[in-house]
Amino acid sequence: MAEIRFEQAAALKEKPDVSKIGFGKEFSDYMFEMDYNPKQGWHDPRIVPYRDISVSPANCTLHYGQAIFEGMKAFRTHDNRIVIFRPLDHINRLNNSARILDIPEVDVETVHQGLRKLIEIEKEWVPAKKGTSLYIRPFIFATDPYLGVSVSATYKMMIILSPVAAYYAAGFNPVKIMVEDTYVRAVPGGLGEAKTPANYAASLHAGLVAHEKGYDQTLWLDGVHRKYIEEVGSMNILFKIKGEIVTPALCGSILSGITRKTVLAVAKEWGVPTSERRITIDEVHEAYQNGELEEVFGSGTAAVISPVGELYYKGEKMVINDGKIGPFTQKMYDHITGLHSGEVKDTLGFVEEI
Ligand code: COI
Repeated sequence: MAEIRFEQAAALKEKPDVSKIGFGKEFSDYMFEMDYNPKQGWHDPRIVPYRDISVSPANCTLHYGQAIFEGMKAFRTHDNRIVIFRPLDHINRLNNSARILDIPEVDVETVHQGLRKLIEIEKEWVPAKKGTSLYIRPFIFATDPYLGVSVSATYKMMIILSPVAAYYAAGFNPVKIMVEDTYVRAVPGGLGEAKTPANYAASLHAGLVAHEKGYDQTLWLDGVHRKYIEEVGSMNILFKIKGEIVTPALCGSILSGITRKTVLAVAKEWGVPTSERRITIDEVHEAYQNGELEEVFGSGTAAVISPVGELYYKGEKMVINDGKIGPFTQKMYDHITGLHSGEVKDTLGFVEEI
């Protein structure tokens, strides 16, 4: 494993007022960086002061988007320890995205150790208030200064840190979601499973339209039949129908969420039936009409567990559980945030202490 060097900052920033932090607007004092070229491979892993970087105006990522990222979190536990949630799953998923975008995979051990060292140095940035965390954003982008459309020969990997509160302005209150029937996010054989900027760019206009109509997010349907439910974009989606937790099966155009995996594992541990399968918006609508749609919630690193109070589809509003947080959603939120805070026993080995 390559040695990780350290460059001291001339001065440290003042930490933000934790009661005022939002999501992803403030950044810590240091960041992780390493570079790739075909001769040296990934090399010179280092922790350096957080600062702007300069790229060529011809940087191929700016033009063609060959880039990937991850999102994970570090938490301060109730007894003042620092933990990260499922870091190896995130680094492995980064490598899965790398394979899809033809980006050279990183050495898992180097990135894991670099991340641990960065969090150790920046532990004062991990906020203590309930519902807050230090959001960890690893990313890789192509760096060739070249306008031809081709796979880049050179890359940069970085990890930046941002103290955050709830992702949605609503906090842990039910969000309203519009089922998207005009635009599509991803198609089979495309990039949908990769955590890559293109998927988020594809969601921006639809998100704007949903906001204008008073909705927090859009729920994507599959790009071919326009009937199978996929994901929300910033989170995966789960339904509680007749006592069973149902979520769309991973089919290549859905991101394999780490929180989604966590919810399914915890539900299984509780003995709650789960099913990963194709599910149509019509099935959800029918379950709603029959009074069988008990709860709907999203899962994601940024969103954690986000109750859905309303689904809007083709002119009809489906109000879920009277617009209130359902008991399963609440229990799952309490469980996962309890794992983060160290108040719930980590029987499945999801939490890693720094
Ligand atoms: C995450 O949940 O970490 C995400 O990446 C979603 C969003 C903030 C882009």
